[in-house]
Amino acid sequence: MADTTKNTIIRDFRSMSFYQIWIRSFADGNGDGIGDLIGVYDKLDYIKSLGVDGIWFSPLYPSPNADFGYDISDYYDIHPDYGDLDLFKKVLKGAHDRGLKILMDLVVNHTSDEHKWFLESKKSRDNAYSDYYIWKDPKIVKGKKCPPNNWDSLFEGKAWEYVPERDQYYLHIFARKQPDLNMDNPVVRQEVKKIMRFWLSMGVDGFREDVITFISKHPDLPDGNPFIPIANGMPFYKDGPKIQEYLREFRDVCLEYGALQIGEAPMTTVETALLYITGKERTLDMMFHFDHMMADCFLTEYIHRDFNLVKLKSAFSKWQTRLLGKGWNALYLENHDHPRIISRYGDEKNFWRESGTALAACYLFQQGTPFIYQGQEIGMTNISLSSIDKYIDVSSKNNYNNFHTNWPKAKRLKRIMDSSRDSSRTPMQWNSDKYAGFSSVKPWFYINHNYKTVNVEAEEKDPDSILNFYKKCLAIRKENKGLIYGRYFEHFHFSKKLYVYTRRYKNERYLIMISFSNIEEKIKVPKGYDLNEMELLISNYKDTDSIDFYANLRPYEVRVFKNK
Ligand code: GLC
Ligand code: CA
Repeated sequence: MADTTKNTIIRDFRSMSFYQIWIRSFADGNGDGIGDLIGVYDKLDYIKSLGVDGIWFSPLYPSPNADFGYDISDYYDIHPDYGDLDLFKKVLKGAHDRGLKILMDLVVNHTSDEHKWFLESKKSRDNAYSDYYIWKDPKIVKGKKCPPNNWDSLFEGKAWEYVPERDQYYLHIFARKQPDLNMDNPVVRQEVKKIMRFWLSMGVDGFREDVITFISKHPDLPDGNPFIPIANGMPFYKDGPKIQEYLREFRDVCLEYGALQIGEAPMTTVETALLYITGKERTLDMMFHFDHMMADCFLTEYIHRDFNLVKLKSAFSKWQTRLLGKGWNALYLENHDHPRIISRYGDEKNFWRESGTALAACYLFQQGTPFIYQGQEIGMTNISLSSIDKYIDVSSKNNYNNFHTNWPKAKRLKRIMDSSRDSSRTPMQWNSDKYAGFSSVKPWFYINHNYKTVNVEAEEKDPDSILNFYKKCLAIRKENKGLIYGRYFEHFHFSKKLYVYTRRYKNERYLIMISFSNIEEKIKVPKGYDLNEMELLISNYKDTDSIDFYANLRPYEVRVFKNK
């Protein structure tokens, strides 16, 4: 019988919040310009001071870094750039001593092509690892060897790569250096469970499971719709036929340890998500969906649209209402895969602080478990690098080289500046010293020019900073059960300027008002709410204690009320 009593995370995750670390850019502890576990250890008190309950680490494992850790070459070790297992154990203990849980990234849709399994697998059709990956014979078209189907990869050209030693192609949904594992092979699933046990028995509290909804492929690998480039194969690998069966196996391992599981689910819908996260028999505790990341783009950040608040609200409200009583939301606005949120949905130029705090309030008071990405809490913004050669992310380079090739170069570069994942991967800005306090030497990647003003040290001193606003929001959420469990209602849905939602729980009533406008807006109060009968829990303007609660909302103003 699974013993779920060992870890309280599985019981308490709904009231928790997490901080995501992308270690390479977090804090350099040994002075080589690269973030590492010494750096993390030194910052544990900082992380604790935010009021979060745990850390999710993007991959720490050895990796050739074709996709910065999401191409793993050894699941049982720590990348030498970041430290070693002993150091990891020290961080784990340091975190646990402070009451912080640790979630590891579990990347098992694919490995690195430098993983020993793949190095063996590609040697021949009959070795111990030959069925670890998805190998197919070439399709012969007009006497020529062609890929077995028409799928595109999400990161780099076709989804198939030819290997002469086997005279076969292997599947890679992501980059060429990320061959997909063959999860239909029970031995591969054994390997995954072994990896899970290794980390769980060390004391890790759970996993964020990378593109986990892609692990079960359609057995026939049929051609996709040729008119949907890039995602043409997706219907045949997303939520595949055996997905629940495989996740059940993984779930059982986690339950032995009472560990938490959050699945990343690109392009998922709320209907599909519910199949994973509902009820006691659920195969995942929460899912990261992407719906609310599309309020200024179409399908991917690379295809830009003007920011549309109504679209954002629709996505939020859909998940809030559809999951009510059935599943639990994972809330986020940033991670290592998206450009910075103030640069997208806020106004970094004119209302950096106001819009940064407005964005915090727009999601931290929803029902769900909030995740905060490193640097988000101080309002870090996108970088603009002067040439495509300076960008390093594989998907950004691919977008630049393959799409809109008829556009002038400057326009293409601008698209990359606004959409690149590199913007969320610049070194964390700790203070105004040289190299932003991230390192004592020149860091591995560009630092945002604004580090002299946008940094932890400055914001810790400023009571009105974005950082202090995040801390206050998390503290308020902790103190008010209704903000954790309460039912969500959205009001004035069609307002293009205001986001107004309420939360209700037993006798508690909360009203969250956020302006997304850069000018003053007339306030809108939902029926049945009298602001003069409520107390103001938090606002992002200084003087609100004395102001008329019914006064116009100033640019990006937040007012959060609770009934007295
Ligand atoms: C996930 C990760 C992303 C990575 C991709 C392939 O989306 O978050 O960083 O590139 O999977 O592993
Ligand atoms: Ca280092």
